[in-house]
Parts: sequence; C-alpha cells; structure tokens
Amino acid sequence: MTQKNAFQTQYLADYRPYPFRLNETRLRFRLSDHATEVESELDLTREGDGPLVLDGGAGLKLLRLAIDGRELEPGDFTREGEVLTIAETALPGTSFTFEAHVRIDPGANTTFEGLYLSGGMFCTQCEAEGFRHITFYPDRPDVMGPFRVSIESTKSILLSNGNPVSTAPGRAEWHDPWPKPAYLFALVAGDLVAISDSFTTMSGREVALNVWVRPGDQDRAGFAMESLIKSMKWDEEVYGREYDLDVFNIVAVDDFNMGAMENKGLNIFNSKLVLASPETATDDDYNRIEGVIAHEYFHNWTGNRITCRDWFQLCLKEGLTVFRDQQFTSDMRSAPVKRIEDVQTLRARQFREDQGPLAHPVRPDHYQEINNFYTATVYEKGAEVIGMLKRLVGDDGYKAALDLYFDRHDGDAATIEDWLSVFEDATGRDLAQFKRWYTDAGTPRLRMDEAWDDGKLTLSFTQVTPPTPGQDDKPPRVIPIAVGLIGPNGDEVRPTEVLEMTEATQSFAFEGLGARPTVSVLRGFSAPVVLDRDLDDAGRAFLLAHDTDPFVRWESGRGLALTALQAMAQGAEPDPAYIAAIGELAGDDAVDPAFRALCLQLPPEDEVAARLSDAGIVPDPDAIHAAHLRLARAVAETHEGLLDRLYRQMTVPGAYIPDAEGAARRALRNVALARLSLLDGGARAAAQFADAGNMTERFAALAALIRAGKAEGALVEFHEEFASNRLVMDKWYMVQPAAADPSQAAAITRKLSERDDFDWKNPNRFRALLGGLSANHAGFHAADGAGYDVTADWLIRMDGANPQIAARMSSAFETWWRYDAGRREKSLAALQRIADTPRLSRNTSEMVSRMMA
Ligand code: PHE
Ligand code: ZN
Repeated sequence: MTQKNAFQTQYLADYRPYPFRLNETRLRFRLSDHATEVESELDLTREGDGPLVLDGGAGLKLLRLAIDGRELEPGDFTREGEVLTIAETALPGTSFTFEAHVRIDPGANTTFEGLYLSGGMFCTQCEAEGFRHITFYPDRPDVMGPFRVSIESTKSILLSNGNPVSTAPGRAEWHDPWPKPAYLFALVAGDLVAISDSFTTMSGREVALNVWVRPGDQDRAGFAMESLIKSMKWDEEVYGREYDLDVFNIVAVDDFNMGAMENKGLNIFNSKLVLASPETATDDDYNRIEGVIAHEYFHNWTGNRITCRDWFQLCLKEGLTVFRDQQFTSDMRSAPVKRIEDVQTLRARQFREDQGPLAHPVRPDHYQEINNFYTATVYEKGAEVIGMLKRLVGDDGYKAALDLYFDRHDGDAATIEDWLSVFEDATGRDLAQFKRWYTDAGTPRLRMDEAWDDGKLTLSFTQVTPPTPGQDDKPPRVIPIAVGLIGPNGDEVRPTEVLEMTEATQSFAFEGLGARPTVSVLRGFSAPVVLDRDLDDAGRAFLLAHDTDPFVRWESGRGLALTALQAMAQGAEPDPAYIAAIGELAGDDAVDPAFRALCLQLPPEDEVAARLSDAGIVPDPDAIHAAHLRLARAVAETHEGLLDRLYRQMTVPGAYIPDAEGAARRALRNVALARLSLLDGGARAAAQFADAGNMTERFAALAALIRAGKAEGALVEFHEEFASNRLVMDKWYMVQPAAADPSQAAAITRKLSERDDFDWKNPNRFRALLGGLSANHAGFHAADGAGYDVTADWLIRMDGANPQIAARMSSAFETWWRYDAGRREKSLAALQRIADTPRLSRNTSEMVSRMMA
C-alpha cells in the first residue's frame, strides 16, 4: 500500500545561494497576547539575480511593506502560500532597506513555534523554520546578520539575543553583534526571576549568567547553573572555545516541543531540563539536565559561530554537539557507564529507525518537513560517525582537525563537505569512502569468523548493509573495528588495536600467540554496526568475567541475555549460564555499582523483537513479554540472597547529592528492588515508597509497585503530594502505561487521557502518557489493536494543535511491519485513519506516508 501526499519535497541538490547579503536586522516588538506588532528593517545588498523572496507564514497579518522608506503598492509584490516576492522593479540599486510591519496572535499559537505564550510568558522557538511565523524574512540558515531588537511589553523581564543595550520599565533593547541566521533568534518576556552567577573566561572577561524561572522555582534552578559553569570551563579546557558575549541567559518554559534550544546568548529550555530538587527529580533527570545544559552551551561554537548552510547539513551541528556533550559527560562522570548508556540509546532508537521505513542517511538528501528530521539518526548516529572519525585519525589528528575547523569556518554556514575537508587537510587522509557514513542509510551487519592455526589467529570479516528506502545498493564502508585478545587465563594478551575494514570481506591475522585467545571485538562499540559472531555461552561468560574493555564486558552479558530471551520467546527454559554469570558479576564488590546495575538490566523487549525479526522470525510481543518476566524472575529466585544483600548494602548515607557515586549505588539498589519485587509481592517497594528521601527512590518504588499490582494507594498518595508540580505529574502519567500489565496498558492510557488534569496540549504531558504507552512494547502492540487505536485517536487530535508533536510521536508505529498479519492489519488501519484525516499537517502526512510506503 502506498500512501501519497500532496506536499512538496525539498532536495539537497537544489541548493542555491541567496542572492542578497544581509548587513543588519532591526526588529521592534510591541507585545500583546492577541495582537503583537512586529516591525522589521533589513539592510540588504544584492549579490545575485532575481526578485527579493521572503518566507512568511499564513498567520502574518500584513500591515505595511516598504523599500528605503517608500511604501510598496499591490503591484510591487505577490504573496502566495508561505512566500512573499518583491518584484525586481521595486528594488533600487544594489543596497537598500526592506521594511515590514505585521501583526501576529501569539495567544492563539498552539504549535509552539514562532512566538507563543506559555503560562503567561511570551517566548519564541525559531528552529528550524519558526521565524517565518514572526515576520517576513529570508528564513534559511545561510542568511546571517547582526540583530538589534527592541521589545515593548508590560512584563518585567524582556530578553533577546546578545548584549543588553538599554532597559527601562516596559522597554528593552538588545544587540547581538555576531551574525546569525533567523533560527537562532529568541525573545522572552515574562514576570520571571533569576538565579545569577558569573564566569570569568580564559582571557579574563566576566560573563553574567542567569537562569530565569517562574517565581517559586528558583530553589530548583541551582543544578542547572552549576552545570552551565562546568560546561563553560570544559569547553575552554578541552576545545579551547571561549564564550563571546557579556551575558548568557537560560530560560525555563513549560510548553516546549523539544528538550532545549541554543539561541545565541539566550538558551530556552523545556523546564524539565532545568528544574530539579532531590524531592522532585531522579538521578536520571539530573544527569540529563547536566548533559543538555552542556549540549546547548556547546552549540555556541558548533552551531552558532559555525552554523549550517542548509537543513540537510543538520548533523553538522547536532552530531558534533552530541559528540561533545557525550565527551563532557564521560569526563564529569563514569566514561564506561556513559558509553554503555549511549549505545543503549542508539540501539533502542537509531537502530530501530534504520531497520524500518523511516531509515534515512545521517545527512538526508530530501525531505518534506525538516522538523521530521530531528532524529536519532541525525543526532546519535551523527555523533557515532564523529567518534569513528576520531578513532581513525587519532586524538591528535582530531584535535588538529577541530582547530582547523574553528579557524577556517568561524562565521560560516558550512557543509559536511567542509567538515570532512578539515579532517583531510589536517591529517592527509582521504575520506571519500568514509563519507558514505553520511550519505548512506542503514546499519551494517558485520560478521566475524575465526580461524586458529598453530599460534596464528585469523579474523575474517564480512559487511553487508541491508537496503533502505530509496537506497538499494550499499557499497562497503570504512569500519574501525577495535580488537583485543584475552588469553585462556583471563589476561589480556594483545591490547586494543583498531582494524580498518574497507572491503566487503577482509581478513586480519594475529601471529605469535601461545594459546588460542578469546577475541574481544568492537571494543568501546567502535562502529555502529550489528555484530554477528559464533561465540557460545561459555565464551560470553568468559568475556563478561575477564574482558578489560568495559563495553565488551557488558555486551557479553547482554548477548547471553538476548540469546536466552530469544530462545525463551520460542518456548525454551531460562538459560542457567546467563543466570550464573550475571550473579557472579553482580556479587563482585570490586566492580562499579553503576556497571553492575547496567549488567543486571535485561535488553528491552523491543530489541528482542528487532532481533527475532532480523533472524526472519515474526516476533510475538506477548511471548517476549512473558520471557522477559520469566527470566527476571529466574534471576531473582536464583540470587535472592545476593539481591537482598545488595538491596541492604547499596543505601547512600547522608543527604541526597546528585553525584555519579550516589547515583550508581541507587541504580544498583533499584534494580535489586525491581527483581526482589517479583518475589516479595511488593513488600520492599511499599516500604521504600513510604520511607524514600528522594524522587529516585520514590519513583523506582512506585514503578515496582505497579508491576507487582500493588500501586493503587501509592498512586493516589503520589498524585496528592505532587498535584501542583507539572514535572512530577508527568512522571505519574508516564509510569502507569509504561509499567502496566500489557493487557491493561491501552485501557489505562485511555482512562488517564480522560482526566481533567491531562493537559494534552502541553507537549511534556502528552509525551508522558502516549510515550509511556509506546514504551510498553507488548502493551502498544496488544493483539486487539487497542494500543494502536488510542494512539491514533490522540495523534489525530494533536495534529490539529501541534503538528510537530503529532508527527514525532507517530514513529511509535515505525515497526508495524515486523509483526503478525493481525497486528499489521490493525496498525495499518490506524495509520490509514491518520492519513485520511482532513487537513492533516505536512509533518504528520510525511511521516505516515513514509511509514506506509
Ligand atoms: N537545536 C536543538 C538542540 O539540539 C533542538 C531543537 C530543534 C529545539 C528544533 C527546538 C526546535 O539542541
Ligand atoms: Zn543540538
């Protein structure tokens, strides 16, 4: 079945430079809830041919257009769709000033792009193409200029990009000297309060720092400020990057489509990535706040000072900035734990994407709606590709290339070609083949075979990348394969070496070995591939016990669990080898508790389904769920004593601190709790819920109680206690469908969605509930189609208010093709129902038609 839609496709190959240079943009805002006036002046210089073409959404009420002060008349311009064209005949000479005066209605804006109101605060979101809903403008990232902004409003705090020029009651002026594209513009006006600090840069300049929040939230903003200061320091120390304005402002808003936004000098954050206190935020929340504050701050150089030529180059800023925030977190916390967590995310989201109808290259070459390409592939795989580059050119090569990148491209709107060129020029390496990682979609399958002959070990690799939409033929890629060898007694006999695979099939030999070693391969997950090798349970258990590479160690445990689950989903008994090996590791007090916690987790059910499907077996979500539960229970039964010991031992004395050490102990303790709750009917969880001194413990106990079917009272209590805290209530909405028995998950979701406090237009609330359901693999894929139906109902409703959120959440359906005929039919019917919705947005239309293609 092919689902067509009527929207236009944009192609990378069609890129043309804008025919005007932008010398300066001046904006004047007179804010009011339903009639905000925006006056703009753009100083332009002609550099190419043609009329002046500007973007402008349908919501702009046009009041006046002028060139050099002369008001334009109807014959001077045309307005069609989202495009305003000023005829060449109306443009004098080479340089002129274009003026527009428009009126907009932020109070009616439910899309949360452009200018909107959130809890009485005016706020903007312009990436990717939101500025065109504020005024007429060349809304493309390669048109850059300095900005002067004046804001008139009755709100007390008036913010924009750059440095403040003047503030008086009801009025403020800002100047941003750094040329920037419109997507980095921001404005905030609200009755806000700040926590403030300062940072002295490496060259001795003092920068004023503020985190702006609603009154009452100040005591939950301190961790964000600490994270900002750490980020600023780290970017100076590791990348030599200094901040370049007198102020850096962060604002927390409750209604936000994404995590956060790197607007120049004025980062705007989803409040869930700013506000945290021990009572309201979990260790994971703190972790994420630190990482995202860093991410947005790092964009000041990788994104803002050097931006993207066009939106096809999105990975240029996002892949690199994710890579940088991952490095930062590894330095701040545990590097091995961070690496394993990143691989978990990559597999859960990006491999899943690559395996299905939404697969696309890290640098896509066409799209209908760019907002549909803020994906795990662009972000997470984009970061992996940089990790591979770094491994291939070495740390010194990477540093030289990055120095050259900042030097050569500061102030530019750059491309992936520019990025690869700095690596070629700095290191002398030819990256023509490497570039396929950017242009070709799909996850390579890498097969390794071993041959042993009298002291010589030969490793033969074969790479195959399955076809993806529009790309049938996949030539071989450069794959860095990090390998080490472990001798029979558990000692490492060869340290890590990076094999560079460039052919479809290739062999590498290790000579002079005394006894046959066990191969530790793809160390540190050196390439985003699916590795396939013949290693039996004993070999995996051996690596889990002895490998010096923490990633392969963890991976070996995961391999044991996956194999066991795969067999159990087809009727086998729990694998004693897995259970024994995992107990051995869990009980080893010499091992970091965070690492033990990671090893005790089971691979997600969705991944088991992916793996079965990869092997040509139609996955049965109910059987996978039963296998998951049964294996967890078997671990609990066999190791009850050990788990109980860990549960009692891993408490953290003293007041809660969101540091890595404490978080590690709480993580191990909470996995122990989850396992033990399968045996004790929720007794420990009930006690922990009652006594918990922080949200990390509280929330883990609540989830365990739900799984034990004993959460009724706890859910009421939790709701009563936190009813006035939106972020905590999001957790309440999320965990119920996520932890529910799969047979109940859809009904629970529907019931919760009918509550008065299900404020569905708030993206966090909507994502919590519907995302909670789709995180419940067997619940979303319930055989009767109830999970599909409730999701489709809500996506249709959401599409009318906020197309970005509807489109993004629709990817819950991206794996429909994996399942049995009954489920396929039901999920396709749900998708068809979405496709048939009158006035469906371009966003959701593109997603649904790709999924149904
Ligand atoms: N550029 C933001 C980030 O990655 C993400 C974002 C995209 C936010 C689009 C809002 C809108 O940091
Ligand atoms: Zn980013």
